[in-house]
Amino acid sequence: MILLSFFNLQGLNLLRLATASPVVRGNDTDRQALLQFKAKITGDPLKIMESWNSSIHFCQWFGVTCGRKHRRVTKLKLRILKLSGSLSPYIGNLSFLRELDLVGNSFYNQIPQEIGGLRRLEALHLVNNSISGEIPSNLSVCSKLTSVDMMGNRLMEKNLLR
Ligand SMILES: *[C@@H]1O[C@H](CO)[C@@H](O)[C@H](O)[C@H]1NC(C)=O
Ligand SMILES: *[C@@H]1O[C@H](CO)[C@@H](O)[C@H](O)[C@H]1NC(C)=O
Ligand SMILES: *[C@@H]1O[C@H](CO)[C@@H](O)[C@H](O)[C@H]1NC(C)=O
Ligand SMILES: *[C@@H]1O[C@H](CO)[C@@H](O)[C@H](O)[C@H]1NC(C)=O
Ligand SMILES: *[C@@H]1O[C@H](CO)[C@@H](O)[C@H](O)[C@H]1NC(C)=O
Repeated sequence: MILLSFFNLQGLNLLRLATASPVVRGNDTDRQALLQFKAKITGDPLKIMESWNSSIHFCQWFGVTCGRKHRRVTKLKLRILKLSGSLSPYIGNLSFLRELDLVGNSFYNQIPQEIGGLRRLEALHLVNNSISGEIPSNLSVCSKLTSVDMMGNRLMEKNLLR
């Protein structure tokens, strides 16, 4: 009897686990950060960001790549898509991000200091936007950063890397 109910309990727990956390769950911090990124986009004539909705997992949103196993955002690539807006400080919460590529859009304002939160960042490509101000000093903590390209913006060259 005891043995039987033990097995039943185990079975129940397994069932509960299986339903509560499907394999592809992802991380809510990443989802929030992407939604905040989207919220700062003021112009999107090609309606690219419409695919960023809850009908599909954020790993399938246009331009988003996730790691296979942990379903964390590893790449955000939105190239030449006529997007305009500022860069949300929430991007600094995409802690598994390795590549940020927003080349050829109309992103403006400054690069947020929170970019220092991207400890795994290897590539930052912001060529041909309207980004202004200084390159954030916080970028220096991104120790894996090997590819930076910010030509064609309105950045001050005061503390340009290199
Ligand atoms: C999501 O990721 C953040 C930062 O890496 C972490 O602090 C948080 O615990 C994670 N949440 C879940 C539900 O995995
Ligand atoms: C949500 O995204 C899907 C997949 O990209 C798209 O087909 C659908 O039209 C979107 N829904 C809205 C309300 O924009
Ligand atoms: C993400 O970043 C924002 C702004 O930088 C911050 O306010 C927020 O608390 C962060 N954390 C999470 C889990 O979203
Ligand atoms: C620099 O980055 C760190 C780590 O994300 C953050 O805690 C700090 O607030 C940032 N500095 C500024 C001035 O935003
Ligand atoms: C940036 O814009 C210039 C001038 O329009 C163009 O020649 C160049 O190919 C662009 N660079 C990228 C990486 O798209």
